[in-house]
Amino acid sequence: MKFEDQLFQEAGVNWDLEKLYLKLTQAKQLHTFSSAQLTAIEKAILRGLLCNYSPKDIAKHLHWALNSLRVELTRGLYRYVETLTAHDLNAIKSWRNIAQWLEAAGYKILQPRCDWQEAPEISSFYGRETELAQLEKKIIQNKYHVITLLGMGGIGKTTLGIKFAQQNLYEFKYIIWRNLAHAPMLEDLLPGILGFLNCNNLPTDINEQISLLIEYLRSSRCLLIFDGLEALLGVNHLAGFYQEKYSNYSHFIKRISEESHQSCLLLTSQDEPMNMYFVRGNKADSIQLGSLGDAAKEIFREKGLSDSNCWQKMIERYGGNPLALNLVSTTIKDLFDGSVALFLGANTELEVIVPTPFQKLLKEQFKRLSDLEKQIVSTLATNRQPMNLKQIQMHFESQVSLSKLLPTLTSLKKRSLIVVLAAENQISFTLQPMIMKYLIFTHRAEKSRVNI
Ligand SMILES: Nc1ncnc2c1ncn2[C@@H]1O[C@H](COP(=O)(O)OP(=O)(O)OP(=O)(O)O)[C@@H](O)[C@H]1O
Ligand SMILES: [Mg+2]
Repeated sequence: MKFEDQLFQEAGVNWDLEKLYLKLTQAKQLHTFSSAQLTAIEKAILRGLLCNYSPKDIAKHLHWALNSLRVELTRGLYRYVETLTAHDLNAIKSWRNIAQWLEAAGYKILQPRCDWQEAPEISSFYGRETELAQLEKKIIQNKYHVITLLGMGGIGKTTLGIKFAQQNLYEFKYIIWRNLAHAPMLEDLLPGILGFLNCNNLPTDINEQISLLIEYLRSSRCLLIFDGLEALLGVNHLAGFYQEKYSNYSHFIKRISEESHQSCLLLTSQDEPMNMYFVRGNKADSIQLGSLGDAAKEIFREKGLSDSNCWQKMIERYGGNPLALNLVSTTIKDLFDGSVALFLGANTELEVIVPTPFQKLLKEQFKRLSDLEKQIVSTLATNRQPMNLKQIQMHFESQVSLSKLLPTLTSLKKRSLIVVLAAENQISFTLQPMIMKYLIFTHRAEKSRVNI
């Protein structure tokens, strides 16, 4: 390799060099009425200019006199760039015009700048084609401002959000992922995001910071992902109310939804945040994630489990929840020699084994429930069979009014904790088997604690 071929190769990070070499060769041939190719020296000088090196710096790297380089530029590269970018002859007034004009002509690679922070790595990803297509339609084609991925813990919201961003890297100039699991104050979150977007003069007022961010969202297409919004929501409440100190998130999301810009805020949450009811419309929507469906069989395949005829039953029993299925598959591998049939034989319909990490997750979610929500899930767990509205109402000593019961059931549905069954002109409610089992298990544990 020639010495000059090695110079300024870093230009290739931001510039489509192959295309530029080709187009500038054509421009050279037009300009010189010949079939001459771009020389290695010309290519090196071009790369240097694209990396913002001045002719003086480039001359030094080439061990040339500055004047020789100037002659080379004025006879060659400057004229070819003018031809290529449709400028008049001798229009170049500064070496900086080269990068500016070529960028304007679209030769700079639009590389997204991603800030993933501590986003988890995705090792395997199965199914979710429908949800990915929905996201693509809403975010890429219809330019929604706010999309919320909803679903119970472990159903795959974070994984889907990351997958979508990875598949659409080149649609966005910036992709910024933030984990809300540790419930950061909005005041602490915004400066980092604005800093990443190269904002130098950060206003102190939070509303001005939001306005500034929206300005960035207007000038560049960005994808912001806020993962795990449920951490900001209140405990002992119907689904979706923010804790007092995080109420400005609601205002923030509303502004992102309503104001004009070209970007998207993708949220993930176990519970639907309250303000989504109000901002839903043309620019905001949510997507509910349910069972992974048949694709979950790939998890069993990956883990090397046997008895594929029982796999469907496993998926149903664990509500197609990839976290639960991953955890249980490991148990089957370790303790049941990989046999799903043996495992299912050991844990009947009402003895669904809930993996410990999953129990922790549910415990956290149950903390957020209102008292009536807790009573209803407990009723459904004790009853085991699906219950209709009347039966649930009757279960309480002083009958609960429908005006209280309906919002509470809606809230439980929004938390993906209850399943609504419609059959024979009757609507009834039940819990997913895994949640049922968890509640029965915790009731028993509480009782035995009392007995002690
Ligand atoms: N489509 C998928 N294919 C394969 N594995 C998946 C898929 N989706 C999720 N998983 C796996 O399931 C587990 C849980 O996924 P994830 O963390 O995305 O769930 P979540 O809905 O964000 O949960 P939480 O509400 O607790 O944050 C992870 O180990 C992930 O790798
Ligand atoms: Mg998550």
